Amino acid sequence: MTEWQKSNWRQLPRVQMPDYTDQDALNAVEAQLAKYPPLVFAGEARRLKASLGQAARGEAFLLQGGDCAESFEQFSANGIRDTFKVMLQMAMVLTFGAKVPVVKVGRMAGQFAKPRSAPTEVVDGVELPSYRGDIINDLPFTPEARIPDPAKMLQAYTQAAATLNLLRAFSSGGYADVHQVHSWTLGFTDREEAEKYREMASRISDTLDFMRAAGVSGDQAHTLQSVDFYTSHESLLLEYEEALCRLDSTSGKWLAGSGHMIWIGDRTRQPDGAHVEFASGVQNPIGLKCGPTTTAEDLKVLMAKLNPQNEEGRLTLIARFGAGKVGEHLPRLIKTVQEEGAKVLWVCDPMHGNTIKSSSGYKTRPFEQVLREVQEFFGIHKAEGTIPGGVHFEMTGQDVTECTGGVHAVTDENLSDRYHTACDPRLNASQSLELAFLVAEELTTMRDAASQAANG
Ligand code: PEP
Ligand code: CO
Repeated sequence: MTEWQKSNWRQLPRVQMPDYTDQDALNAVEAQLAKYPPLVFAGEARRLKASLGQAARGEAFLLQGGDCAESFEQFSANGIRDTFKVMLQMAMVLTFGAKVPVVKVGRMAGQFAKPRSAPTEVVDGVELPSYRGDIINDLPFTPEARIPDPAKMLQAYTQAAATLNLLRAFSSGGYADVHQVHSWTLGFTDREEAEKYREMASRISDTLDFMRAAGVSGDQAHTLQSVDFYTSHESLLLEYEEALCRLDSTSGKWLAGSGHMIWIGDRTRQPDGAHVEFASGVQNPIGLKCGPTTTAEDLKVLMAKLNPQNEEGRLTLIARFGAGKVGEHLPRLIKTVQEEGAKVLWVCDPMHGNTIKSSSGYKTRPFEQVLREVQEFFGIHKAEGTIPGGVHFEMTGQDVTECTGGVHAVTDENLSDRYHTACDPRLNASQSLELAFLVAEELTTMRDAASQAANG
């Protein structure tokens, strides 16, 4: 077998990538990026891999969330802070409610390139190339805006670096200290689930007071003062990914320096394609989206290519079938995994199989369907005796109206109020918190059933 090279993908069929017209400009950008520091480091990726291994064994739970597409225009410190806050709240609900350590991964600092259902878009009889994310072209419907511009990779890098810088500061600079549990609530959360959160936060504060009084301090107390927060994105724009790929001197292995975890989308997982080839050679944890069209045969080949050593935490299978379809597809793929003796982490993405066009014309996702897919995912794993190890949400800390439903119901008519996504509809802060409570409940029920079985 010839040795893996970071540029090997260039020899293979590629889909969902732009055709840059100015080759010199593209080469110059790639050369520039190749000189920049990587955004993440190998030790961090290895630590995340170990944590994902724990999740695969049922000893931790993965919470992965963020925008469908990060936007240059909407980039702001407050936006990052609010998504981070909601994720901390959700993690707290899971940690305290379900008594399970939570691995926190933001779809952030690199989630810029998007696969599209069609290469072009037609509006009023005018056909233009589709928008493919801010790292590639621009959203406005004009011929100039839709030309892929390699220089946008440099802006994406800069934004990703600034985002990570802020996330690192939030994670370890006191903001994520558990004693701040009350301060993570957001201004507009005067709703039922926010009240539930406040009650839980008070119980946590009491527990912390008790611990202090009982003399818990030093190292143990220190672990409560910061969090590990990782980043992930779809590894779609391979010119960008290759340019940030680095050889790690400690392990002698390659690292995708663009984010801690990268994943392969449902549209780019061709076993002999460019995207699978690239991901196969880097040491980062890899996610693989599995949809209704994923066959047992493909999954076998993909698992062998992406995790030939059967390393724990290396491969996360992100199931995204759609509510009502989990029962048809998840058991057959679980069977394939078991037949191969493969070690994988099963995660539920209840977003991408549940996208519809609302009567008001907006792309949306009914909260009830999202919730139902999560419940089906847990139900199947319970029936199969396998481990539901995490969730993958498209969400934001902003009070948007993009998905319908939830306790504070967003209706079809409300969608236009605050519809800000550059791509797919996201859960707002209240809907995200509501889902976290549901997941905590599912996990608690599962744990109680397991301990009951063990005791008698
Ligand atoms: C996404 O995660 O934004 C995405 C495009 O997902 P999928 O590949 O599952 O459709
Ligand atoms: Co999406």
